[in-house]
Amino acid sequence: MSVTSRSIAARDVDSVLHPYTNLAALQEHGPMVMDRAEGIHMWDSQGNKFIEGLAGLWCTSLGYGNEELATAAYDQMKKLSYSHMFIGKSHEVGILLAEKIKQIVPMEASKVFFGCSGSDANDTQVKLMWYYNNAIGRPKKKKIISRIKAYHGISLAATSLTGLPAVHAYFDVPLSDRFLHTDVPYYYRYAEPGETEEEFSTRLANNLEKMILDQDPDTVAAFIAEPVMGAGGVLVPPIGYFEKIQAVLNKYDIMFIADEVITGLGRTGNPFGSQTFNIKPDTMSLAKALTSAYQPLSAVVIPEKMYAAIAETSAEVGTFAHGYTFSGHPVAAAVGLKALEIYEREKIFEKVAALSPHFQRCLQSFADHPLVGEARGVGMIGAVELVASKSTKKEFEPLGRAGQYCLARCQANGLLVRAIGDVLAFCPPLIVSDDEVGEIFDRFGRSLDETLDWATREGLVSN
Ligand SMILES: Cc1ncc(COP(=O)(O)O)c(C=O)c1O
Repeated sequence: MSVTSRSIAARDVDSVLHPYTNLAALQEHGPMVMDRAEGIHMWDSQGNKFIEGLAGLWCTSLGYGNEELATAAYDQMKKLSYSHMFIGKSHEVGILLAEKIKQIVPMEASKVFFGCSGSDANDTQVKLMWYYNNAIGRPKKKKIISRIKAYHGISLAATSLTGLPAVHAYFDVPLSDRFLHTDVPYYYRYAEPGETEEEFSTRLANNLEKMILDQDPDTVAAFIAEPVMGAGGVLVPPIGYFEKIQAVLNKYDIMFIADEVITGLGRTGNPFGSQTFNIKPDTMSLAKALTSAYQPLSAVVIPEKMYAAIAETSAEVGTFAHGYTFSGHPVAAAVGLKALEIYEREKIFEKVAALSPHFQRCLQSFADHPLVGEARGVGMIGAVELVASKSTKKEFEPLGRAGQYCLARCQANGLLVRAIGDVLAFCPPLIVSDDEVGEIFDRFGRSLDETLDWATREGLVSN
């Protein structure tokens, strides 16, 4: 008996606990069951075709159905489907991938630790910071400063770093007072009247310094940041922000952890977001585009001084007691290696740099729309923030209702994007063409106008 899409949707509701979903609403409306994908397009189980405007969850940079990536996985599965990296075991694809990552990251890179997700990479970052500071005789230096609206994942340490209320509510996190959150660099919402971007950046850097001094600099180990905040609403740092922040960190010997899980590998128009925003990272987290989401894989890159201290201490303990069954999984490593080869061979990062001005122009064409408070972005990532009043920046009430309506219109018009509250986010696969960028924003424009009609009918706009 064939399984109809209707019955499969009903069975989903019966059996799946969905991540990041309003579960009560899901019970009422059911899931959107996806069926297949090719290039930048996806089809659901009803046969509807969509452009994937968010690259899945900011990750499918090389699009779908890539034969080379599939073959790399298949070949590796046949040759060596699994071998771990515990107790000094290794394998060629893992070694080659670590070497390649070391070559391309814009930092002094000594070693690469593999995991399976952005969350576990950031948990590893926290554990390494603690281990390292214990190893070098600074047992007090343990606090990690993150930012309000940051997204660093949902495993226990990562979720403590994340600065979004919904991620903390009911979960009893942050775990301890070792996790602090400083200001979000959200110029549109939090700049004071007349404050320039540069002045805003200075104020935030001063606030950070004050937080460090209040806490005692000897207790602060690291600062973690996404070069562009993704899940917090696609927040592009204001002018001078990271330079000023990094100057404060350097003053107090505080390390910079670059969370390049979204921005790594081309997204901002450079190989890494750190290059776009003049960040000098001490350590780095990578995931998502590392395999273009064909396999779960993350990487933490650390400098020699950390490695040397950790290695010495591991001898004293008898082992470096951290690692996952799937750390450096050979199939994921083979796919990662192939993805990096494709980025390089196809000059994907250069193509992104060339296409970005068109992408950003399309995005900015919505800046004057009556529903749009701000259109913002860099490279091939961007967002449009919907507001109830353009002149006062008043938000919709309840927050997220207009975003959900617009998202539904986008889907009806064949475009998959993401609504973060009332912010619509765009992050298409990096293989998108010039014309396809135009098509994404045409569909969005139609959806936005339909949202305006609805909001006007409902009496929600007050310009
Ligand atoms: C910047 C950043 N860091 C970490 C994560 C967590 O990654 P994962 O969902 O793979 O655990 C995400 C996920 O979106 C992210 O955007």
